[in-house]
Amino acid sequence: MPKIVIVYLSTSGNTKAMADAIVEGAASRNIKAVAMNFHETKIEDVKSADAIAIGSSTFHYKMLPPMEKFIDNLSNANVKGKIGAAFGSYGWSGEAPGMIAEKLRELGMKVIDPVLRVQYKPEEKDLEECKRLGKDLAEKVKKAG
Ligand SMILES: Cc1cc2nc3c(=O)[nH]c(=O)nc-3n(C[C@H](O)[C@H](O)[C@H](O)COP(=O)(O)O)c2cc1C
Repeated sequence: MPKIVIVYLSTSGNTKAMADAIVEGAASRNIKAVAMNFHETKIEDVKSADAIAIGSSTFHYKMLPPMEKFIDNLSNANVKGKIGAAFGSYGWSGEAPGMIAEKLRELGMKVIDPVLRVQYKPEEKDLEECKRLGKDLAEKVKKAG
């Protein structure tokens, strides 16, 4: 099973592009990572991961509501003590990643600070930052293991 699971919810592909770049970064450090659309993610997928990154774009000053439900369900997934990260694309206010990080901390996860936010469609320099987050997650997983 992958050690890093990246779960995203993205309406037009911007946050998805971030998730794919995070996977690329982790893979470049030889850690198995997978990006999953929230719709296809089962609680077992996150249970077996060492690190979990969660991404949502900001809609109406919040994360997308299905993602909020998904995170609330993680209380059944034994994520306490796991490494976490929050990310997402936004347009003007960008609250979602901060809200995700807060929820993950409430679940007892060790969340990387600061969260990663990109305005609208990620450009090359933004994708590089996403890759850096993937590498960072991979190094932290190695240390924890
Ligand atoms: C109906 C609607 C509401 C939005 N509300 C917000 C908002 O409150 N704050 C913000 O920063 N961006 C807002 N956005 C912009 C999106 O977050 C932005 O387009 C983002 O890149 C979408 O990423 P995605 O393709 O991953 O969903 C909104 C967009 C739409 C269409």
